[in-house]
This record gives sequence, structure tokens and C-alpha cells, in this order.
Amino acid sequence: MTNENLVYSGKSKDVFTIAEGPHAGKYRLVFKDDATGYMENGKPVFDPGYDTVVGQISGKGAIACRFATHFFKLLQARNVPSHYIETISENEMIVEPADPLSMAVESPSFPGSAPLLNLEFTWRNNATGSFWRRYPFVRPCRNVHKVVEVWTKGDVDVLITLEALAETGAMSKDEIAQSVELVQSIAQIVSQEFAANDLHVIDGKFELGRLKQGDGKIVIIDEISPDVLRVCKGYIPDDSGNCAAYQQCAITSLFDGKRTIKNRNQVPAADFMNIFL
Ligand SMILES: Nc1ncnc2c1ncn2[C@@H]1O[C@H](COP(=O)(O)OP(=O)(O)O)[C@@H](O)[C@H]1O
Ligand SMILES: [Mg+2]
Repeated sequence: MTNENLVYSGKSKDVFTIAEGPHAGKYRLVFKDDATGYMENGKPVFDPGYDTVVGQISGKGAIACRFATHFFKLLQARNVPSHYIETISENEMIVEPADPLSMAVESPSFPGSAPLLNLEFTWRNNATGSFWRRYPFVRPCRNVHKVVEVWTKGDVDVLITLEALAETGAMSKDEIAQSVELVQSIAQIVSQEFAANDLHVIDGKFELGRLKQGDGKIVIIDEISPDVLRVCKGYIPDDSGNCAAYQQCAITSLFDGKRTIKNRNQVPAADFMNIFL
């Protein structure tokens, strides 16, 4: 297969259109070994929270592909709609082509206008990360019942309210309600799967798209991989599902007007990527 059919080359995957054969018209996702992070003393520090590719980790693509395969098959078995068709090699997957949820510029003649690109849906079992930084009145690691938030993708991700999504015409109210429900049902399945391995998912991020073929149904696309989940060990739920270990686990700071929050019990992606392989 050649690059003639390359649709998109991202940080973690390349997307190709399949020209012929049994999967003609479908997309082939190739999971790459590129890893994002930051540079420290001239050396790469890998961190999925960063958006710059700083190096390669041999085998990372294959692990992400097997991990995603595990979860997409689980969704398939539970009749949850996704783009997944089949996995054809250790780092290649065939998927249904979809249009990521986005919106073209309405008035391109205005300088600075920009399209809305690939919405990302975050969901959270517990308050941490940017959620706590935005809402620091909330107790760290309190149960936030899989609250779903939507983000525009770009140099900086910007939170977009569900009301603004409907009002701008980016999505209909029905589509928004359906998408929130879909994200929460997948979040539930992923959380249960980790719980069965004595791990707790703190939060996650999914991408949705409208299928190009058929009825344009909204499904989960892209990947469910260690890169899109924050996981901890030692979760002790109280009666309301708040983590009772937060006093020992969460570390916050306020410096120069900037808040930070870390969780001592968070498990690095490298330590849980092997459990579903
Ligand atoms: N089924 C699909 N149909 C169309 N586009 C898809 C599908 N699944 C994933 N994508 C897109 O492919 C790209 C995957 O590449 P990735 O390396 O994850 O990109 P990024 O660097 O933007 O995160 C994403 O832009 C995602 O929106
Ligand atoms: Mg991506």
C-alpha cells in the first residue's frame, strides 16, 4: 500500500483509505511508535498529556493497537456503536470512515475565522486535573458521576458548552444528548474492565464521529488507549463514590496564580498498558 491513500498523519496514527479488496472504501489505521512528551536536559520525557512528539518507543504502536482492539471488541459484544471493523496486524486496524464532529467556518472572509475541528469528549469519575483547576472549590477526587465535557481541538483545547454547541449549529440537541449518553456508557464499560483488574479509571477522553456510510450515526472513533485514560490504584470509595484516600493521594499547589494537582496513586501508562494484551 502506498502513501497515495494517506488521509491524515497524526501524532500517534496514520489513516489510509483502502482502494481495493474486501475492505475497499474503509479506513486503515496504522498505530505508530511516536510518543509525545517534553524535553528535559536534552532528553525526551514521555507524557501522553503533552501534544509534541519527542521520540519513539519501540512497540508502542502495537500495544496501543492491541489495547484498542480489546476495548472495541468489548463494545461490539455489548452492542455499543464504534468505528471498529477488525484488526489485521499487530499495529493495523480496519475501521468505518467517519467525519469527526466538527464545523466549517461560517464567514471565511473574516480574518481570524477558524473551523471547529474534531471535538473531544472528556468524562470523569473523580475531580482532578483541569477539572479541579477550573473548579478548585471542589474536593479533590470527589465523585463527579462521569460528567461529560466537550473540547475543541487545536493548539490549545478550549471547553465548549453543550448549549453553545447546539446554538452554533455544530450539533443538534438530540445529537448532543445521544453523544453524552454514548460517552458515559463507554466510560462505564472501561471503568468496570479496569476495576476487574484492581485499577480505577479517574478520567478519559474519547473522540466521536458521524459514519460516512449508512445513516451517519454518531459512534466512537479513533482509539481507546493508555494515552487517553488516567488511572490510579488504591481507590477507596465512600458511600457516595468519593475517593476516601484523597488526603494521602492528592497534592495541590497555587503558585504565581497557577494551580497544579497531582495524584500520588496515579499509575503511569507504561504500568497498565500490558494488562489487556
Ligand atoms: N474512523 C475514523 N474516520 C475518520 N477519521 C478518524 C477515524 N478514527 C480516527 N480518525 C482521525 O484520525 C486521526 C488519528 O490520528 P492521531 O495520531 O490520533 O491524531 P492526533 O495527532 O490529531 O491526535 C485523528 O485526527 C482522528 O480524528
Ligand atoms: Mg489522537
